[in-house]
Order: sequence, then structure tokens, then C-alpha cells
Amino acid sequence: MSEYDALIAAAGKVRENAHARFSNFKVGAALYTPAGKIYTGCNVENATYGLTVCAERVAIFKAISEGERHFDSIAVVTDTDTLTPPCGACRQIIWEFCGDVPVVLANLKGKVEVLPMSQLFPKPFDSSNL
Ligand code: THU
Repeated sequence: MSEYDALIAAAGKVRENAHARFSNFKVGAALYTPAGKIYTGCNVENATYGLTVCAERVAIFKAISEGERHFDSIAVVTDTDTLTPPCGACRQIIWEFCGDVPVVLANLKGKVEVLPMSQLFPKPFDSSNL
């Protein structure tokens, strides 16, 4: 039992909706708001490959478009023995909207690792640089 169980379960469930017909690599992500609401996203691939959007960005953009502006944590779930960290583009977006939140990496077998964003993305470019 951990405070992230529900978040991991939500990310695991939405992962099943992944549109990953090119890589066959299904990813689910879930975000907690301070009110305890969960927003989810899966990766959505495209035949042109480059237009693919990762699960993390789908979850964040869904939440932002619903008016949410504050997030407490984000989970990423895949079916891999080695846990899947967010890609570089997603790290930039997570930093922009979530800041230094715990990033909960998990797989379908119950392996979990929690890393702070500041460790995954130690020297970000953000609005403080403008
Ligand atoms: N992917 C994600 O959705 N999130 C990650 O953290 C890593 C990669 C997706 C993008 C693409 O659909 C597939 O996984 C393989 O790269």
C-alpha cells in the first residue's frame, strides 16, 4: 500500500487505451491534482511517427484544457522490467506545468520507483530564464 496506488492503477488502466500500433509500446500516465482528482493519458501514435504524443503529455494537456493548473504527482506505467522514465520532451512539459513533483514509475508487476522531477531534469530552461 502506498499513497500512489490509485494513481498507478489509473495509469495502468488507461494504458490499455494506448494507440501504439507502430511501436507496440503502450504507456499510461496519470496526474494527481491537490484536490485528489486524477487525470489520465495514453500514448497516441501516428503513421508519420513524429506526430506521436506521449502518454504524459496527453494527461497534462487533458488536465490543462479542463482548467487544472496545479499538480502534485505524475505516474508512468509500462509493461517492462526496466521502468520507463519520461522522454526529454515530456520532462520539459512536466516541469512547465507540474514543477518539482514526484514522478512515480511503475510496471504491471508491481515494481515502483519514485524520483523527484529535479533529479530527472536537473537544469531546466523555464520562465525564470526569460
Ligand atoms: N512513450 C510515452 O508515451 N511515454 C514515455 O515516457 C516514453 C515513450 C511512447 C511514445 C511512443 O508511442 C512509444 O512510447 C515508443 O516510444
